[in-house]
Amino acid sequence: MTLGDPAWPVSGAREIRWMTEVVQSGRWSWLGKHERAFCEAFSEFIGTRYAVALSNGTVTMQCALQALGVKPGDEVIVPALTWVATAQAAMDIGANVVFADIDQETLVLDPASFETMITPRTKAVIPVHLYGCMCDMDAIMRIARKHKIKVLEDVAHQHGSRWRNKGAGAIGDAGSFSFQQSKVLTSGEGGAVTTNRLDVYMTVFALKQVGWAPGNPKQNLFDNLVRADRYGHNYRMTEMQAVLLRGGLTRLPSQTARRERSAQQIREGLQKIGGPLRAARRDRRITRQAYYAMTLCYDENAAGGVGRDAFLHALSAEGCRMDLTYGAVYRNPLLNLYDDTTSPIPYRDPETIQDYRNLALPNTEKSVAETAVTLGQVAMLGNKTYIGQLLAAIRKVSDHLPEAQQAWESRKA
Ligand SMILES: Cc1ncc(COP(=O)(O)O)c(C=O)c1O
Repeated sequence: MTLGDPAWPVSGAREIRWMTEVVQSGRWSWLGKHERAFCEAFSEFIGTRYAVALSNGTVTMQCALQALGVKPGDEVIVPALTWVATAQAAMDIGANVVFADIDQETLVLDPASFETMITPRTKAVIPVHLYGCMCDMDAIMRIARKHKIKVLEDVAHQHGSRWRNKGAGAIGDAGSFSFQQSKVLTSGEGGAVTTNRLDVYMTVFALKQVGWAPGNPKQNLFDNLVRADRYGHNYRMTEMQAVLLRGGLTRLPSQTARRERSAQQIREGLQKIGGPLRAARRDRRITRQAYYAMTLCYDENAAGGVGRDAFLHALSAEGCRMDLTYGAVYRNPLLNLYDDTTSPIPYRDPETIQDYRNLALPNTEKSVAETAVTLGQVAMLGNKTYIGQLLAAIRKVSDHLPEAQQAWESRKA
């Protein structure tokens, strides 16, 4: 590849003007006009009645789970493949995390595995719309309603995805978003909770605003704050972050469309190449797909036994960077919960929780070790020529598999 990577993150003159105004105004935080405007625009974009801005996409999940009634000792079902924070958010409010397996191709929560993990203690599930595939929200909502389980969507990867024309984050009881630097909508750090439920909104608001919440829901929700007589934290967002998000949100639809075009070009290109790499299937019920990354599958058998890592190594030598995924969360060192000297907060009595040390969910294991490949959202912003170069690199490596294997082995030696 000769073309450079697209720029990220992107900002414009409007943010610079607003930022200057904010800096000069001295109104840098505490429910300022940019935060209000962003929350209004974001809830409209996702299609919920309410959006609350918070300081990152982990505390969003803590607050949303608490607002949905999750209490210490309750179980929360989390897919075994996600960023570790999805599990940490539940643990940090005292819940026990039960990991369920994923679909090996799309890498998102497998509804059947979710159902088998339900116990009388299960209070909530967190379907994570991971990388470039949405969860099957019809199946997940059906199972959750049947067992009276609350649904918190983790939408850190897919701001703007739509399932049957309903926004990710507007389907379950609440949605959680991250605006950390690498995300498709970013303010460096930041997060938001979306919901249609007034009670969830009020509780999340109080939890992030040190126990203060809107006094009268019929009036402007940002005004008339009263002490909500409950415990709360400071998880507020600054006006500087809100400025970046307002600007970013105006560009998000066209960036998502660009990434959807790239995904289509890649999907068709890979079909023509016919090598070991292909795009993960796209469910017809997904009416708009946002991409933190494109989800791809590697088939070692179609490569005559040449492994995924050798293939990606050769690709990177062509200037094309594709990535692996997160590891299985239950193997993450942060989840050594059985030793109360490492941290007192996550300590869990091994008798009372799923035994992560002996867990090996088959699809998660196989995807992580052998088949899953991702192409990051920044590369997907490339134009047709850039994606054409990327496909040419994939074709070249697919046509030279023995050399790719040799290069990989000599590197290891
Ligand atoms: C799937 C997922 N959930 C949650 C988070 C947590 O977001 P934050 O880093 O804003 O706390 C991330 C961040 O990378 C993520 O990828």
